[in-house]
Amino acid sequence: MKVAAAILPLLTAVSASCLHGTSLLPRSADGTVDINSFNYTNLGGPLNWYGLNKEKNSACSTGKRQSPINIVTEDIDYAAANSVQFNIPNADDIKFENLGSGLEVVLTNGSLVTKAASYKLAQFHFHTPSEHRINDEYYPMEAHFVFENTAGAIAVVAFVFELSQFGYSTPLFDSVFAHIDDIATPSIYTKTGHLDFTALSRHLKTHGIYQYNGSLTTPPCSESVAWYLSTEPLPLNVQRVNAVKHVLKFNARYTQNALGQDNLLEVAAAELN
Ligand SMILES: *[C@@H]1O[C@H](CO)[C@@H](O)[C@H](O)[C@H]1NC(C)=O
Ligand SMILES: *[C@@H]1O[C@H](CO)[C@@H](O)[C@H](O)[C@H]1NC(C)=O
Ligand SMILES: *[C@@H]1O[C@H](CO)[C@@H](O)[C@H](O)[C@H]1NC(C)=O
Ligand SMILES: [Zn+2]
Repeated sequence: MKVAAAILPLLTAVSASCLHGTSLLPRSADGTVDINSFNYTNLGGPLNWYGLNKEKNSACSTGKRQSPINIVTEDIDYAAANSVQFNIPNADDIKFENLGSGLEVVLTNGSLVTKAASYKLAQFHFHTPSEHRINDEYYPMEAHFVFENTAGAIAVVAFVFELSQFGYSTPLFDSVFAHIDDIATPSIYTKTGHLDFTALSRHLKTHGIYQYNGSLTTPPCSESVAWYLSTEPLPLNVQRVNAVKHVLKFNARYTQNALGQDNLLEVAAAELN
């Protein structure tokens, strides 16, 4: 994996110059990171995550509280007003990396305080299309802010995005994605511009929040993850969605069975016998 990660940028630089000429070459990357072994295609995809590592990833195929789910707004719980304190100080030049399986901003200054626990930010990342569905509907993109604490508890604050008919966008994500073309190749990282989280915190605070306990949506699919999903989509313009989609391509796990029901993979495997 390390060797592949080191060679990839060289290969890309060569093929990019062959295909497009030097004027369209991305800025030189700041460095490389190891890419994930799982992905969303063929045997690397979600139906086979258990097969990629049977010891570590068993929850992916046997867990009964797996994410993402279809959120049924009539049945889901809502976090009580002001019960979720989401606080991320503004930041500059944060590492933004292409892990192959997704795009991640490695920002760790930030905290989440809920009725159940306090957590520290670990990173935030993106999925296209959305992973959660709301009353069966999917969205073009979803952001996940992943929080952890020293007791090993994990919480994710999530936002889905909707195309704005007025071409609006959310400035924070314009800054995050400003240099997305620099990390079009897996294993490369760059830096974000200035990140101002004020509007995002206000958005979370001023709308309802769906709450449920599920899992990580990527291997090892660990459970007991506390999910907080804003009920109100964030606006995104068409240009931004297309730029992100060209790089992220497709990285959404399929919708899991309703909470508490048997894992869909176990059900399907049993049907075959
Ligand atoms: C997806 O993951 C599988 C398993 O690790 C790997 O064999 C395959 O090359 C990967 N595909 C892509 C496009 O990264
Ligand atoms: C994170 O917080 C520390 C302490 O307040 C500060 O020194 C540091 O600059 C912050 N890092 C970023 C990336 O903002
Ligand atoms: C999620 O788990 C926590 C801790 O066990 C619990 O306090 C909370 O009520 C659960 N939330 C839901 C919506 O089930
Ligand atoms: Zn995610």
